Amino acid sequence: MKKLYFCTNTKMSKNLAQTREYLTALREGTADLLEQGLIDLAVMPSFTALETASRVLAGSLITFGGQDVCVSDEVEYTGEVSAAMLRELGAGIVMIGHSERRRIFGEDNRSLNRKVKMTLAQGMTALLSVSETAQDKAFGVSEERLHLQLHECLDGVTDIGRIRILYEPAWAIGAAGVSADPEYAGRMHESMRRCLRQMYGEKADEIVLMYGGSVNNENAPGLLAQPQIDGLGIGRSAWNAANFEKIMRMACQ
Ligand code: PGA
Repeated sequence: MKKLYFCTNTKMSKNLAQTREYLTALREGTADLLEQGLIDLAVMPSFTALETASRVLAGSLITFGGQDVCVSDEVEYTGEVSAAMLRELGAGIVMIGHSERRRIFGEDNRSLNRKVKMTLAQGMTALLSVSETAQDKAFGVSEERLHLQLHECLDGVTDIGRIRILYEPAWAIGAAGVSADPEYAGRMHESMRRCLRQMYGEKADEIVLMYGGSVNNENAPGLLAQPQIDGLGIGRSAWNAANFEKIMRMACQ
């Protein structure tokens, strides 16, 4: 059975006590799945909870990391957190380019490319989020949009063993979203795989491709049944540890 990849970004949903409780439950609930190599699990708590995560997850196979990272490692970036600072806390992964970062903070592919490189330089995995808007979909330009993001965000990146791609259509994320139809998500993943093969040749097949956006207990199995979907990025349905565990167990059956 192929290993399934899961991740959750808790955004600003949990304070320190809630993060401690959540990660403790997740650690206990998923230990057997992780030990048997059935799943890979990454959690991105808020920056303020990273030290808590490093304590709670010490010795566990769950990877934790940042929801974002600074484009630079120079000192004069007030308010930012560098890749080295994340690494110092034991982070193993960084989420880069979530559609909320693109939409609310105006992050563009060029700066996301710098973030990918900063992350890799510190030996961490870069979880690059790529996205399409409802308008892209309506105009039929979603594939072009995704290909452009892959080309620009991965420009000059050769170390692809530590790259994961999380495809999250902006129209599918959050309370107002509806999850992508599994066949549609599957087609977008195939298209991204084709693009990555053009960029990296056969090596591209090692890159983990994940889907995110309104994933829940009902639609998770159908999405994972798509051949090019290696895993799921889950928000709200994963913020309850017992429910997240349920989704992962169901997927492993
Ligand atoms: P959602 O969030 O599962 O709550 O739609 C996904 C995300 O923002 O990563």
